[in-house]
Amino acid sequence: MSMTAARSAPRQLFVTTALPYANGPFHIGHIMEYIQADIWVRFMRMRGHEAHFVCADDAHGAPIMIAAEKAGVTPQEFVANIASGRKAYLDGFHISFDNWHSTDGPENHLLSQEIYRRLRDKGLIATRTIDQFYDPVKNMFLPDRYIKGECPKCGAQDQYGDACEVCSAVYAPTELKKPYSTLTGATPIMKSSEHYFFRLSDQQCVEFLRSWALDPARLQPEVANKAREWLEGESGLGDWDISRDAPYFGIEIPDAPGKYFYVWLDAPIGYLASLKNYFARTGRDFDAFLEDPSTEQYHFIGKDITYFHTLFWPAMLKFADFKVPNNIFVHGFITVSGEKMSKSRGTGISPLRYLDIGMNPEWLRYYIAAKLNARVEDVDFNPEDFVARVNSDLIGKYINIASRAAGFITKKFDGKLAMAWATQDDSFLSELRGAADELAALYEARDYGKALRLVMELADRVNAYVDANKPWELAKDPANNARTQEVCSRLLEAFRILTLYLKPVLPELAIQVEALLNIAPLQWSDVNHALPDQHVMQPYSHLMTRVDPKMLDELFEPPTTAVEEIPVSDIEAIDAEIKIDDFVKIDLRVAQIVDCALVEGSDKLLRLTLDVGEGRLRNVFSGIKSAYQPEQLKGKLTVLVANLAPRKMKFGVSEGMVLAASAKDEKTDPGLYILEPWPGAKPGMRIR
Ligand code: 2FM
Ligand code: ZN
Repeated sequence: MSMTAARSAPRQLFVTTALPYANGPFHIGHIMEYIQADIWVRFMRMRGHEAHFVCADDAHGAPIMIAAEKAGVTPQEFVANIASGRKAYLDGFHISFDNWHSTDGPENHLLSQEIYRRLRDKGLIATRTIDQFYDPVKNMFLPDRYIKGECPKCGAQDQYGDACEVCSAVYAPTELKKPYSTLTGATPIMKSSEHYFFRLSDQQCVEFLRSWALDPARLQPEVANKAREWLEGESGLGDWDISRDAPYFGIEIPDAPGKYFYVWLDAPIGYLASLKNYFARTGRDFDAFLEDPSTEQYHFIGKDITYFHTLFWPAMLKFADFKVPNNIFVHGFITVSGEKMSKSRGTGISPLRYLDIGMNPEWLRYYIAAKLNARVEDVDFNPEDFVARVNSDLIGKYINIASRAAGFITKKFDGKLAMAWATQDDSFLSELRGAADELAALYEARDYGKALRLVMELADRVNAYVDANKPWELAKDPANNARTQEVCSRLLEAFRILTLYLKPVLPELAIQVEALLNIAPLQWSDVNHALPDQHVMQPYSHLMTRVDPKMLDELFEPPTTAVEEIPVSDIEAIDAEIKIDDFVKIDLRVAQIVDCALVEGSDKLLRLTLDVGEGRLRNVFSGIKSAYQPEQLKGKLTVLVANLAPRKMKFGVSEGMVLAASAKDEKTDPGLYILEPWPGAKPGMRIR
């Protein structure tokens, strides 16, 4: 037996994945990252190391504050609602986080303020007055993404404040023509305010980051190259604006009333906060763990947030006298059949749908692992490739080994294994065991694709052994009993070793195999601990089914039941598909028409006075005069688009729009049909 997988001293690891914004459910990209990190953590645990694996919701920031306001709930309620949906995904894909917390937890408030104070006391915080767009209706400074206007170059309407989607021009929000706030439609004004900056341009920061980020033993080569560009580029590192003015959902800056930390300041500190919360819950010493120089800290992240994690985060930790990360593991994005995931095209895979239609989460774990390496490359989900890899490799090569050997052991030998031969050198099994070190190195280096290719090569050799020894032939003649039992036992030992190698990727399957073989949970060092002679295993029951390719069709189909062919009437074509995120932007409310009047000088409009439960009445002009007499409408309930930007009309300001149905062509039906909710609806109720 080789001396593989000798146990090194247990390591203490602190591992995280990026904290997802608490403004929506997980998409397949999140699940890919969690699977990548989970495999690594499970591998480390199998090696006997102590790996603490945590994550949290990234709760703060303007978008979440605004989304909560639109949903009519507090930001705290909003993020709690998102958090309550997380478990189904994490359990569903067997992600073994030790803790899931929130950056709005008390630990993060305290830690963020503490880290800030330490940076300030080191002279690394500066203040500067900056000019910024301000929404005079909403009374808040506008993040760039909430400003739109006409492109200064080509004049295209409704372009964002940073770049034009029509002509690709890049500009500052202040260059937009006719800028408006997307929150209220108001024209933003310039306003100055004092901001707090982390002085990254300070020489000590630059020197530290050079030594940390450019240490050749640290970052992935592509990541190090980026860091070098940022550090050595012409403009060098700029100071980082870490404050936002109220109203903001975030953590207050100590001694700076009305100022909050920008979400990206407190988000990574959320890694520490989640660990702290978990340690308090389990009676461990957080400070001692972080102060211990042997503790190793790793963050798995996507390539889009490299800047924050390779510059800001290590510098924050360093100058606040915390442990700095040992490394940042950066991965690419997930594409589907070669296309970048796009909300509008809807090519994304819904992780919950995947589970709902009964697809095995370990198929996805296996498939993603098979495609991952240690580089920052995108991973493509290709349906045919998925079916092929799962059915041909995972089931065809690996699972089949057990199904071919176990039945005979149960039927002919009462479940007893003949392992006496195993004490001698056995080249077939030694070869399998001999791969342990190489596989361990590949897992540790996150080169999972290569690791799985090697495991499948080993499985090929085991299958060659099956074909050479034909247990089903041997079993026909009782004179061969001893040989049959030995061949099948050897195959089951081979299957045990392969299961051990796959366990980081297929943890639930490994549990089933451990039950089948009647053994304790497999640790990496068990590779050398062969099943004992006369060991009794459990009867074989099916371990894993094949993927039915129809499932992939179902995965990509919209989740509607098939519609019978119905005659097409002359209706307007259905508009381009939108996502729920688009829909929820429209705030529809039940409104009571408390008054209705003709508008002098207009032959189209009626003036509606509406109660939307706001403690004030709204004035809305509606082009429905042709269909209704004012008296018909008084007292009725209807539906109002309540967050439509107020519009100045010839007759006054209209504060919203009531909804009415109409035919595609006036000639088929000139009618207008105002909407009316069922009895029981009250003014102000949201329609969703
Ligand atoms: O990009 C994002 O989704 C951020 N919420 C990631 C934060 S990672 C860490 F800093 F918290
Ligand atoms: Zn343009």
